[in-house]
Amino acid sequence: MRKIVIAGNWKMYKTNSEALQLANQIKINTTAIKKAGIIICPPFTALATVNEVIKDSPIGLGAQDVYWEKEGAFTSCISPGMVRSTGATYVIIGHSERRQYFGETDETVNKKVNAALDNGLKPIVCVGETLDQREENITDKVVTKQIKGGLAGLTEEQMKSVIIAYEPVWAIGTGKTATPDQAQDVHAMIRQLLAELFGNLTAENTVIQYGGSVKPDNANDLLSQKDIDGALVGGACLKVDSFSDIIHTAEKLL
Ligand code: 13P
Repeated sequence: MRKIVIAGNWKMYKTNSEALQLANQIKINTTAIKKAGIIICPPFTALATVNEVIKDSPIGLGAQDVYWEKEGAFTSCISPGMVRSTGATYVIIGHSERRQYFGETDETVNKKVNAALDNGLKPIVCVGETLDQREENITDKVVTKQIKGGLAGLTEEQMKSVIIAYEPVWAIGTGKTATPDQAQDVHAMIRQLLAELFGNLTAENTVIQYGGSVKPDNANDLLSQKDIDGALVGGACLKVDSFSDIIHTAEKLL
């Protein structure tokens, strides 16, 4: 059975001292969690600080982006090795906010995914359609292209380290959640696509998270769906109560 993995994407929130406090609270509130996976993704600036708090706990640490080069004159960029050096072992790649505001494409996602894997980082690869695309009925086509492009050339072995996050853009930060059925339909489509691309075993074992206004009151219905294996949480991960509520909901379903 696949694990349920709850990841918190802190986005551009939390100074170092705020991050320290939140990480501490999350650690304390999740000591009873034995089965659900937990990952927190603070901004780059807080990674090393947060690592000090959670390094002896089962909570995983992730960055929110990475550049593909090892080093060089790439002002502001952070390499996979730099991310690793903070203690982080995960990295979110291709978030819709990166695609929308910073020119991320399936090609750059693919380069980043490869660079992450080559350096022992586990990518959380984000895909999802905009509202226009959903209304045009091209959700499957858009997500298929993102997955094929983002994961191009990966081996079955590499896929063991990849998490996919389906995040419909229209549900991010809007309070509008995909219904459990809407989300399940896309997750099932993604799993079928993974079977075609990488074989049945990879499809069965890959964790596919849902993201987009996941909150304590909708987490149970979403996480109960057959092909929804976790959540990538934005707003609700910034407060210890709502984030740990979602994690405890996941734990009960396992
Ligand atoms: P919200 O939970 O705030 O909608 O954000 C989702 C998200 O973008 C997680 O990566």
